Amino acid sequence: MTVKACESGKMSFPEGFLWGAATSAYQVEGGCDLHGKGESIWDRFSATPGKITDGSSGAVACDHYLRWRDDVDLLADLGLQSYRFSISWPRILPEGTGAVNQAGLDFYSRLVDALLERGITPNATLYHWDLPQVLQERGGWPDRMIIDAFVEYAGVITRHLGDRVKMWATLNEPWVVAKMGYEWGVHAPGVRDHLASANAAHHTLLAHGRAVPVIRENSPGTSVGIVLNLIPFVPATSSTTDRAMARLADGDLNRWYLDALAGFGYPSDVLQTYGGAFAAVQPGDMEAIAEPLDFLGVNYYTRSIVSAGGNGDEPDELEVHRGDEVTEMDWEVYPSGLFDVLVRANKHYGFKHIYITENGAAYADEIAPDGRVHDARRVAYFYKHLQEAWRAIAAGIPLDGYYAWSLMDNFEWSHGYTKRFGLIYVDYETQQRYLKDSAYYYRDVIKANAVLEI
Ligand code: FCB
Repeated sequence: MTVKACESGKMSFPEGFLWGAATSAYQVEGGCDLHGKGESIWDRFSATPGKITDGSSGAVACDHYLRWRDDVDLLADLGLQSYRFSISWPRILPEGTGAVNQAGLDFYSRLVDALLERGITPNATLYHWDLPQVLQERGGWPDRMIIDAFVEYAGVITRHLGDRVKMWATLNEPWVVAKMGYEWGVHAPGVRDHLASANAAHHTLLAHGRAVPVIRENSPGTSVGIVLNLIPFVPATSSTTDRAMARLADGDLNRWYLDALAGFGYPSDVLQTYGGAFAAVQPGDMEAIAEPLDFLGVNYYTRSIVSAGGNGDEPDELEVHRGDEVTEMDWEVYPSGLFDVLVRANKHYGFKHIYITENGAAYADEIAPDGRVHDARRVAYFYKHLQEAWRAIAAGIPLDGYYAWSLMDNFEWSHGYTKRFGLIYVDYETQQRYLKDSAYYYRDVIKANAVLEI
């Protein structure tokens, strides 16, 4: 791939670069008990008092399950070339395994057909955090039974859609699944157990590795990958303890997943923190996890500045924002970190095809008197990060596409509806959609296939 920088200094992207936007099932679909869908851990978690900031849930969300046709029209209006969505496991297999819910299959089948009719490439993620509740009751991700269950689910859905969907990601952000769901308890299923979290981390990767050959078999010519959240960790000071803390946090979030997928095994410094208690790895597991991938999906939002607080036993992280610009999530705007993680994924880990599968920012948007949403800060966020994506390509990194997070405002997990990440504003009372200024900016970027000055 060669990058054309025109005389005007325009940052053009290579021909064929894929421009998209992303959502996930639980965050947008709603229809939580429609047409045979089973309960997910997020249905249960958000119905538990005190778990979601605004007391809401994804029961209705953006009502995308019923309004998907209009949403596909919006995708087309924006000129998006690809749509990254996730499939709700309990909509397909309400009991987690066994009986298949035909209505669930039909929903995704119609969505995929509508996308293809408009020339939009479907990019489907099998697991974006909404585990069937029945499987949690059998132990969830910390239990090894989950591997066979996930492979069965991957088989069902790819047998059905594999003829038309040619981009598959197994899991979204396994670190978040393991850490926020099973150690910190701030995501479903709300478990707080250090060792269970390590076991979950291993099983997410193993489920991924075991599912890859099944997906390939059911979807010939397909491109299969996994989506990781990558964060550069920077020590707050040059002290030995702060540097050790940054190194460990990097091991826990980045290296654990990247090393294992690249065939290097789990990082020894992170393994040591379990003091031998972590015994989930069985012969053949690491080989299965290292099944070669067609692409790595990278979700990038921010960096973390860490210092060694607490008693030193745990990566007791302290984020320091150094007075820099932050988004509504309190995440620092740090565009060059995107360049850094892309370089690392390619140069150190050898991933030959990389997509930015999520990048975006939450701001407190409002509909202005002129009926528009003037989200200048989000436009600037995209502008700065797209420059870094371009810089990575110019440096020879095989970056094949970019997905904005998110197509539309949606249920932001434990924050409920209080954080708006969309290119499209959603009025949750009326379900009316409004294109924000960032949507128009992004539409123009796609049309020009270049970063546009703001
Ligand atoms: C990512 C998630 C996505 C969304 C964004 C803001 O970690 O994959 O669902 O919540 O953060």
